Amino acid sequence: MADIEGFVRSMPKCELHLHIEGTLEPELKFRLAERNGVALPYRTVDEARAGYDFHDLSSFLVGYYQGMSVLVTEPDFYELAYAYFEKAAAQGVEYAEIFFDPQGHTSRGVEFGTVVRGLRRAQLDARRMLGLHTQLIMCFLRDFQAEYAMATLLESLPYRDWIIGVGLDSDERGNPPAKFAAVFARARAEGYLLTMHCDVDQENSIGHIRQCLHEIGVDRIDHGVNILEDPALVDEVRRRRLGLTICPVSNRFVTDGTKAAELGRLLDAGVLVSVNSDDPAYFTAYVTENLLTVQRELNLGRDQMITLQRNAIESSWAPPAIRRQILDKLAALNS
Ligand code: ADE
Ligand code: ZN
Repeated sequence: MADIEGFVRSMPKCELHLHIEGTLEPELKFRLAERNGVALPYRTVDEARAGYDFHDLSSFLVGYYQGMSVLVTEPDFYELAYAYFEKAAAQGVEYAEIFFDPQGHTSRGVEFGTVVRGLRRAQLDARRMLGLHTQLIMCFLRDFQAEYAMATLLESLPYRDWIIGVGLDSDERGNPPAKFAAVFARARAEGYLLTMHCDVDQENSIGHIRQCLHEIGVDRIDHGVNILEDPALVDEVRRRRLGLTICPVSNRFVTDGTKAAELGRLLDAGVLVSVNSDDPAYFTAYVTENLLTVQRELNLGRDQMITLQRNAIESSWAPPAIRRQILDKLAALNS
């Protein structure tokens, strides 16, 4: 295929940084609000979209938490996830790891089991009806106390087989990785894989990346582009083949740009960087739009686009058979 855009659209894809609550499109938000009798601060879908006025992480998070208040019952979580799975499959996503924020719901009185059972049922249907493989990553909200994260971890144990790993998200200011060292140590002992957000251009981003690597022992880092401030750490993640899940359009909303140039430098350095969508309903870009943003900004060719997908699957927590299947498809594109 001659045109690179068509090539990107048709590639098999893998998504590793996707908050399921961040896929809540205004149309579904209104339907669920009505069904559950939840009041929203806008009257129409257009008004809701026009109200998205994000300029940094904190201002985004206000709208994100307010939006998820419409999710109450197990069918709500099913519908949320299945709607995303349909969109992802239509974009050629064959494997996705999905973050969910249980404390965004349990803190409002929704039971942990309600959330996870709805998501699980959608995952099973997506596998059967769309051929899409997915796994769940449970994130702790870093602006809550570590004790609440620990209680959430314990609450997850009956569902241990449904959850591949744990992450850390929400407002990073004043909430460093080290605050959750005991929680992540226990999570590892329970067999969970570990990742953490190191959001872009935060206070002491590089220090947080260092803590993730040396104090927590993460298996992957979400965002993490500030690692370029310390070449020794860049070298370390390259050698250890630790992935960085980068979200260009999200970066454009909450920082001063897409950070595509930084992504390009990391790609050239041989770091396992991947391109992901973060909160696509809010940033109005799913994975294909994120990939095309980077392709255009850096004028990447087919080989580099394939490398980005290979990085994603190699830094994923996919079962070996899925990993092999996607790598084989990518290898066939090269020949
Ligand atoms: N929660 C949802 N999206 C997030 C992001 N990009 N950073 C931190 N917390 C989040
Ligand atoms: Zn994120």
